[in-house]
Amino acid sequence: MWGQAALPLALLLVTPHDPSVLTTISCLSDSYRGQFGGNSVFIVDDACLSSSTGLLGEGSVVPLDDTDRQLVWLEQEVVEDTLGLPSPEDITSFISALSGSPFTAQDGEQQVLADSLYGNVVLAETASSMVISVAPEVARTIDTHLPRFWKSAPIPPKSVPYVPISSAASQRVKEIAASVKFDPVVASIVGNLSITQMRKDVRYLTGEDPSSGIVSRHAFSEGALQAAAWLKEQFESTGASCELKPFLRGFSPNVVCTYAATEDTTETMLLSAHYDSRGSFGSTRAPGGDDDGSGTTALLAIARTIARKGVTFRKNIQLVAFSGEEQGLYGSKAYAREMYELGANLTLMIQADMLGYHAPGEPAQLGLPASIGSVEVMQLVSNISAIYSPELVVGTTRACCSDHQSFHELGFPATQVFERAGPIADPMYHNSGDLSDREGYDFGQVRSIAKVQFATLLHAAGFDLPE
Ligand SMILES: *[C@@H]1O[C@H](CO)[C@@H](O)[C@H](O)[C@H]1NC(C)=O
Ligand SMILES: *[C@@H]1O[C@H](CO)[C@@H](O)[C@H](O)[C@H]1NC(C)=O
Ligand SMILES: *[C@@H]1O[C@H](CO)[C@@H](O)[C@H](O)[C@H]1NC(C)=O
Ligand SMILES: [Zn+2]
Repeated sequence: MWGQAALPLALLLVTPHDPSVLTTISCLSDSYRGQFGGNSVFIVDDACLSSSTGLLGEGSVVPLDDTDRQLVWLEQEVVEDTLGLPSPEDITSFISALSGSPFTAQDGEQQVLADSLYGNVVLAETASSMVISVAPEVARTIDTHLPRFWKSAPIPPKSVPYVPISSAASQRVKEIAASVKFDPVVASIVGNLSITQMRKDVRYLTGEDPSSGIVSRHAFSEGALQAAAWLKEQFESTGASCELKPFLRGFSPNVVCTYAATEDTTETMLLSAHYDSRGSFGSTRAPGGDDDGSGTTALLAIARTIARKGVTFRKNIQLVAFSGEEQGLYGSKAYAREMYELGANLTLMIQADMLGYHAPGEPAQLGLPASIGSVEVMQLVSNISAIYSPELVVGTTRACCSDHQSFHELGFPATQVFERAGPIADPMYHNSGDLSDREGYDFGQVRSIAKVQFATLLHAAGFDLPE
């Protein structure tokens, strides 16, 4: 029986997220895999576990036996009760399909899913989350099988650094915030954002404009590749330099666009959205009109206005449309990691994800993240909203974690702008009916939030207009 060398036993350790533990116990910071649903996740060995248990409050530990499998964190989304609660049967049948036990559906896709899997899938679970272990290829396509109102995030196969935001970085954002006061020139620039153009752009992305031919922008689809190429072309037509940046085989690329600083500086401000989308289970259609056609369109509207007004920025500006968000922030993780490794001087980043919907009868809103993100950037955005888009009711949302998380986790000051000061209420969320032409989809709100993003950029970066 050679070849059975006793490998050190790997243990999955899940504890409530506590930065003090991460900065004081070095074997834990060396085995950190990130923050998931308010928890820190580690893969530790016996020695680390026994040396740290006394210092950890609570937590759960699961031995891992098969290191070829990918661990995935699944979590229930925070949605309004009006959307219907996630059904426990849905997740049970999803898991039994993963386990390869008999199931009734004859759907071809489901059959493949079951055939490719084996063994124990669920490693740990709470009422609203679970950790599963699957083949890596299944992890990357899991969004097409997950029940509605559940989302997934891969637990990285290697350790990730724990990087808190430095006090210098927070201080820089505070300085920007302290300097913000109403500027009529900023108001006139952001007031030029055009709803007519936004409607046209989002309809191209969703395929509501039949000339685009896009049926889906799911990250693996033809439509996503087409959308990426189109976005690059549109952004370039506004004077940006763009690059399609592939990050993982099978996924459509990130679209990274830059306006170079007029000053000699490395300082950079980044606005982003994700252009990939998710549809209903079993349907190929994934128009993503709100999620996240709205955020993508807001970025494009900002770019078009930069061009129309001839705005130049004193600092470097990046407008980025990510892919692979729906499978667990794959595109933004790759890009944030690249910026981190390059030592990028990123002052702030703001992700726009879902800007279009609010329940009929509700006022236009701006939701800011209740948990993941930089409080300083959130304050800045909230104050700018009060100045340039006073029509927005600003509040926090527990709907959590778009691409800003990838930057936040690497110590970059980041936040998200969202459509509601509350949970997700869009009845077409992750649904093949997520079009822009429907009740509750409010272009006025998309424009108001885009004004906030744009004004933040103008104030933070400084700008000039042609004489
Ligand atoms: C935001 O605005 C409030 C009210 O005007 C002000 O008290 C606060 O200092 C501002 N915050 C920042 C970060 O500038
Ligand atoms: C934006 O500005 C251009 C000229 O600078 C003007 O022609 C256009 O009507 C403006 N659009 C909006 C929506 O304000
Ligand atoms: C980032 O840019 C600021 C402003 O130009 C500068 O003061 C700072 O030294 C830069 N930091 C790095 C790490 O380059
Ligand atoms: Zn989204």
